[in-house]
Amino acid sequence: MSNKQKELEKRYQFQTEYIKNVEDFKSKLFEKKLVPYQVEFQAPPRGKKICWLECPYCYGLSAEDNGERLNKDRGLEILNEILEGGVRKIIYAGYATDPLNCSYIDDLLEITVLKKAIFGFNTKALRISDNFFNTLKNNKIVDTSYISLSVDAGTNETYNKIHAVRGSAKIYDKVLLNTQKLGEIRKKNYFDLSAAYLVNIHSGNEYDCEKFMNDFISAGCNVIRFTFPQQPKGIQTDEGVVPLEKEKVNYKKIIERLKSKYENSDCSILIVDADTDYDIYKKPRTIPCFARYVFPTVGFDGWLYNCSQSSAPNFRSSALGDLTKNNFWDLFYNYDLNNFGSFQKTCNQKIASTGCKCDRKEHVLNQKLIDNKII
Ligand SMILES: C[S@@+](CC[C@H](N)C(=O)[O-])C[C@H]1O[C@@H](n2cnc3c(N)ncnc32)[C@H](O)[C@@H]1O
Ligand code: SF4
Ligand code: SF4
Repeated sequence: MSNKQKELEKRYQFQTEYIKNVEDFKSKLFEKKLVPYQVEFQAPPRGKKICWLECPYCYGLSAEDNGERLNKDRGLEILNEILEGGVRKIIYAGYATDPLNCSYIDDLLEITVLKKAIFGFNTKALRISDNFFNTLKNNKIVDTSYISLSVDAGTNETYNKIHAVRGSAKIYDKVLLNTQKLGEIRKKNYFDLSAAYLVNIHSGNEYDCEKFMNDFISAGCNVIRFTFPQQPKGIQTDEGVVPLEKEKVNYKKIIERLKSKYENSDCSILIVDADTDYDIYKKPRTIPCFARYVFPTVGFDGWLYNCSQSSAPNFRSSALGDLTKNNFWDLFYNYDLNNFGSFQKTCNQKIASTGCKCDRKEHVLNQKLIDNKII
């Protein structure tokens, strides 16, 4: 396996080092010279509905929608503020939204690419415009940029079942076609292209898993990642939507067998079970929380939040502030250095009272800084 492919596997197993040098991080924090490692930009939906799907496993289903949306002019301005201040990586994803469901996503991508920042996309990729494809085709792309597609099925029928789509629309075929187009572009202009598969009662059968691997490897993906849905915060799920430990063991056997058949030097196949491997998801959050200094998140409503998992109007009590009225950097540097300990304490009390739930990267980041006694 090439070094590039090994590096890629590390990233997709959520092993990115967000802070390489803790001492350097600390001194920049206390001089107010810190620049976040990345900013997640949760671009607003084009329609009234918050997302184009309502996946029954989605951890964002409990997000509040108060109807507020970040408009295009201010959205592009905020992105420029962020990039001009030195942020090198922008992640387009969502807590309860999909970046490609935003009416100005083509402009956001174009600015990111022209300003030579790394981009990352986490999307269902139901629709991709010609402008989006052309920006990827015709510009230099910074290394480690990626597009990660959440697919979760190997057939149209399973796709609709796992995502609770009524009717017989051929959405799987559409996503595969979009992936094939992306696969063609990355032969000439390299970026990482991965496909993710959540395994549960609907999708955990050999036929779907095998067809998905075959289709998405042939389409040009260089990583295929299988994971399991975790219990979403504040949502009741039907039996089997979130698999039990013993069900996961059976699913893993099927996927391991297929992995040995399909893995090759151009495409890694990963099975990531963070719940079982790290036993941290049972704990809702790791506090004190430092996420806002490392990966703050622009919400679809135009507010700046601590992290990607606390980025909807129901988390405003712990947010950094309103970006529609304030400059990104004014909000980012708005922390009290004279009383940093008590400032952090108040922030953490507010965070805990929102009932937020960390994902793996957030647990790991906070634990690392706690272990290094930042405060
Ligand atoms: C919340 S979605 C937002 C981006 C985009 N709408 C999408 O679905 O890819 C981000 C990722 O989280 C995954 N996800 C959502 N709910 C989850 C859960 N309860 N457990 C594990 N992964 C989940 C989705 O499958 C997707 O890959
Ligand atoms: S998983 Fe993604 S596409 Fe599905 S409802 Fe959640 S945010 Fe929307
Ligand atoms: S989810 Fe985790 S990282 Fe995000 S605000 Fe809550 S404690 Fe902090």
